[in-house]
Amino acid sequence: MTTIAHLSDPHLGPLPRPQARELVSKRAFGYLNWRANRHGAMLSNVLETLMDDIAETGPDHIVVTGDIVNLSLDAELPQARSWLTDLGEPENVSIVPGNHDAYVPGAITRAGQHWGDYMCDDDAPFGAGVPQPPSTALTFPYVRRRGEVAIVGTSSARATAPLMATGYFDQTQALHLRETLAHLGHEGLFRVVLIHHPPVREIGDWMRRLVGGSRFRAAIAASGAELVLHGHTHKAVIEYLGSPSGPVPVVGVPCASQAPGSRWTPARYNLFDISGRPGAWRCEMIERGFRDRASGIVEIARRMLHGEAAKAA
Ligand SMILES: [Fe+2]
Ligand SMILES: [Fe+2]
Repeated sequence: MTTIAHLSDPHLGPLPRPQARELVSKRAFGYLNWRANRHGAMLSNVLETLMDDIAETGPDHIVVTGDIVNLSLDAELPQARSWLTDLGEPENVSIVPGNHDAYVPGAITRAGQHWGDYMCDDDAPFGAGVPQPPSTALTFPYVRRRGEVAIVGTSSARATAPLMATGYFDQTQALHLRETLAHLGHEGLFRVVLIHHPPVREIGDWMRRLVGGSRFRAAIAASGAELVLHGHTHKAVIEYLGSPSGPVPVVGVPCASQAPGSRWTPARYNLFDISGRPGAWRCEMIERGFRDRASGIVEIARRMLHGEAAKAA
């Protein structure tokens, strides 16, 4: 059995004081928004409590589906590297970028210089665990094999206009995703696809939607997958996409640093216990997080996504 832990949208704080040159353009809106809405609502001690619980649970691998930072400020990138190092070694943690990690043009390239070894193929030229030199371009999807599980990291992160939080999934990545999933399916692996924006049409409003989402859905419909994990909405949600091998669960997890007591779902993460083989997979999802201020981290719910109980449900 392989256990994967999924968390998302930590929006690491505290936000470093932006330099004057960094507050031009979209970041000025974002900084005001952060001061008004996020400052105080997303707390590092909440995130630390969640991380302690993950460490106690001891998953085989951890995945983080983006929005690691807030405004892609220069000073946020090494802070985020330090947080990732606390979470685990690059070979044990896989990330994909969110819209806040690509806040302004060029941001995703600079993020790659700091965290590229957390979002690369096992057989990338520089390998997991080795920081990539600035000349190395990030490529998506990347693939990592862990036991019977293949982790497929995609990117929907692209700099957008002020007040927009849309994602983008282009034709080239869609083609590679389709080929990659077909290949991994032939290998008999349980395919877990990571993306920041929810790839299901019904989730998310127009200003936060995934542009090109139909390309992502077409790749799943053509080649199949066993599980899709996303963030972005800061909500707990399960939807399904069609595929040749049956419905594919699409699971969104709330923000990993959301303090209890607001209108948002308090911090959570999900565990996925995966075993079996093609045609007879078993996957149990266990949600853990805060119920309220006093609860600490507790089990919220568990359900079968693949296996006999899932078929009966
Ligand atoms: Fe977010
Ligand atoms: Fe987001």
